[in-house]
Amino acid sequence: MNKILFPNDFLWGGAIAANQIEGAWNEDGKGIGLSDLFIYNPDKDNSKLHSSDMTSKQVEFAKRDKQGYYPKRHGIDFYHTYKDDLKYLKEMGFKTLRISINWARIYPTINTSHPNDLGLKFYDDLIDEIIKNGMEPIITILHYEIPLYITEELGGWQNKKTIELYEIFGKTLLDRYHSKVKYWIPINQINLVHIEPFLSVGTCIDKTDNYELSKFQGVHNQMVASALLKKYATEQKYNVKIGSMLADLTAYPENANPDNVLLALKHNRLNYYHTDVQFRGEYPGYIRRYFEENNLSIEILESEEKLLKNNVLDFLAISYYFSQMVSVDQSKDFSTSYASSKKNPFIDATPWGWAIDPKGLYNCLSCYWDRYQKPILIAENGLGMHDELVNETVNDDYRIVYLQAHLIALNECLKDGIDIFGFCAWGPIDLVSASTQEMEKRYGFIFVDIDNEGNGTKKRYRKKSFYWYKNVIATNGACL
Ligand code: BG6
Repeated sequence: MNKILFPNDFLWGGAIAANQIEGAWNEDGKGIGLSDLFIYNPDKDNSKLHSSDMTSKQVEFAKRDKQGYYPKRHGIDFYHTYKDDLKYLKEMGFKTLRISINWARIYPTINTSHPNDLGLKFYDDLIDEIIKNGMEPIITILHYEIPLYITEELGGWQNKKTIELYEIFGKTLLDRYHSKVKYWIPINQINLVHIEPFLSVGTCIDKTDNYELSKFQGVHNQMVASALLKKYATEQKYNVKIGSMLADLTAYPENANPDNVLLALKHNRLNYYHTDVQFRGEYPGYIRRYFEENNLSIEILESEEKLLKNNVLDFLAISYYFSQMVSVDQSKDFSTSYASSKKNPFIDATPWGWAIDPKGLYNCLSCYWDRYQKPILIAENGLGMHDELVNETVNDDYRIVYLQAHLIALNECLKDGIDIFGFCAWGPIDLVSASTQEMEKRYGFIFVDIDNEGNGTKKRYRKKSFYWYKNVIATNGACL
């Protein structure tokens, strides 16, 4: 008998990101963000861009738009449709919706003397509408929405001036929404910088002498910026919780070969060091050694060390999609990033090669809990798949099977006494893929009729999983 332990106030819901859903990329005074630069082209690697891939001149942009489709400029037009879209989530009984705020809507240029009123007005209305529909908003302050000027004029997060601009942006949001929003995530997936470097820290590969250093420096500066917001919220006595967010990259060793076991340990520490800093308040010895051995002379000021020590964060937000497996055969050179993952023969993978492993969720959450004992939010989980619309619905049993298994794994964690306070299914309404720019890598309970090139009616349809998740929420997981 599977005893279900979800607490009564469990935050069932979903998560979206401004750049993947809103569209309206140049409306109401919005500036250009890095995600607006990505054309849909299956052959193009957008994770590392050169400065020649971008220009802030609107005219130049408009010209380029004619040469291809830039999906994140258009999203699913949520900027104009959010009122209707939120009704679907209300119908499913969502208790929470995690959103992000597009930085370039609030501060469209490097001049921060005054925020863009129209940008703020959009989020005022959106947040109120979320609450009106019975959901608690959770805010991610930065979810791959670095304004282009940060990259063009400052070279991205490696520049400490970016900390100041982000602090102004973050304080603007905290001052305005602290009474309506309790949970805040300063940076989406702070540890994913080695996989999505450009979107994470905004450094152009040709604009730095040492790309590796720019990533680690960028992440350090993001941790400082997060601590500054935590400090500010504490000083202002705002009743908020500020969390650290990781994309889970926990890896299994391929086998008991001690070299593989140590490789997995080192790989996992590269994941953990972010939360070691953000929860324990200091850089652990193993990562200082790693920096030294890899000639990564990161500028860590004494004042910043103090700040990190005195302002540890409150909760752990995790996005979990897959587990990884590492092997020395595959990753001879581990010196500069995560070890690359090998296909695990014991588990299936999605068409995008993402290993489907609900037990991996139990494994990683247990490891995080044993290490930190911080409350956990599942900030993202879900299955990206090709869906087929037939008779105005999608029979997405595969998505139900995936989510059901992961929720059961979550319940196993609850049985161990792990404090998990919410579950946000990624992209509850179909949106643009972060990594591939595809519309057709769908995660939603609601199908949106738009294809990879932007064609379609934009109409919304309830999938089979819509009714399944609605029932999960209504029964507080008892139907699992
Ligand atoms: C997470 C990101 O890493 O994964 C989301 O926070 C993203 O922005 C999600 O959409 C799924 O990845 P993808 O590439 O399938 O959209």
